[in-house]
Amino acid sequence: MTVIDVTNTLGLGLLRQPRTVLFGPGQRRQLPHLVTPLGSTVLICTDERMATTDEFREVRASLEDAGLTVAVFSRVQPDLPRADVLELVAEHAGSGIDVVVGLGGGSCLDMAKVAALVLKHGGDINEYYGENLVPGPGLPVITIPTTGGTGAEVTCISVVFDSDRKMKIGVASEYLEPHAAIVDPELTLTCPPGLTAATGADALSHLIESFTDRSKNPSSDEMAAHLYVGKNVLTDIFCRAGLQLLGSSLERVVANPSDLAARSDTMLASFCAGMSINTAGTAAAHAIQSPIGNLTHTPHGIGVGALLPYVMRFNLPANTAAFAEMAQLFGVATPGASELDNAKAAILRVEELLAALGVPLNLKDLGLQPEQFAEVAASAMLATRLTANNPRELTADAVVKILEFGYADDRSWWEI
Ligand SMILES: [Fe+2]
Repeated sequence: MTVIDVTNTLGLGLLRQPRTVLFGPGQRRQLPHLVTPLGSTVLICTDERMATTDEFREVRASLEDAGLTVAVFSRVQPDLPRADVLELVAEHAGSGIDVVVGLGGGSCLDMAKVAALVLKHGGDINEYYGENLVPGPGLPVITIPTTGGTGAEVTCISVVFDSDRKMKIGVASEYLEPHAAIVDPELTLTCPPGLTAATGADALSHLIESFTDRSKNPSSDEMAAHLYVGKNVLTDIFCRAGLQLLGSSLERVVANPSDLAARSDTMLASFCAGMSINTAGTAAAHAIQSPIGNLTHTPHGIGVGALLPYVMRFNLPANTAAFAEMAQLFGVATPGASELDNAKAAILRVEELLAALGVPLNLKDLGLQPEQFAEVAASAMLATRLTANNPRELTADAVVKILEFGYADDRSWWEI
């Protein structure tokens, strides 16, 4: 195994974050106070289901009661098709929008971020694909998530599905950072079980990947050019809090979806995960999931969740200390046990949490076929933005091995 020094030799910490974050049951009612200083005309981006709810009507009425002009785009679809971004812009360009509010799941929040960008700077969203290609701040964005998982409420990236290229592509820039986020756990009470599972597994994967990432120890030029610096002292604070919260709340949410205290803990953990990946970045599980998602149309969180047991085992020898600390955070560490044994206990605990969510712990159930392994591996290796964060050097051969073990449902090993 090629040994990579994963330690943070610079002692670096880096966060990007909204100016205001408001957390707590019922806090969505503060929205007019956040919007009013920013302008008089607000565009809400949401989806068709959300637009029929009492919560949406209440939010809209609160803005109108504050004297604001409200426009709505309520046709945001999952995976955010580029065509929908073009449609929104055609509908609302030149109509004097001052503020964009994203209300819904990750796609609604991502739509708000790219809509605010294109309404301000013009053009087609495909001109901004990639890292740091946005020329300046867009319109101010306020995010209000209704699922506990993606972290999109605080991240400065939007992911768009481009049907011309038949793939999802990110627009990543610090100028996409939302102005404010309102995280109101009451909005997740009606989140259906399948979506709760997928987003919960996604949040768990964000915390695990950013906590076990390598520290990249970037030069100042690299810091200026790239958004993700790997594991660092500030993201670790959010990871520790998030892992503790998820470890004690995910099973409670599954057992009783209307448990507001458990929903609050999951939502807070998801926010912590978003804060962490926004500068640390994710790693191998996300790199490998993306092509699997394209081939099998598996929900993102289910795909990364199914990969986690295998990717964590692969990464275990490269960052054993971080995995062992996760055991402490989950409350499954044995005093006096070796670092390696505690690290293994953390991985077994993650498997328990994923199983409780109903995430398949193998890749066959996702619909992946062995003849697709080479294609998935080649595609994963192209996601250098993610693979560069992984604590252990990832090769195409290693990805194929991970896929083979995952397909065979074989977790009887601790080292490749
Ligand atoms: Fe994710």
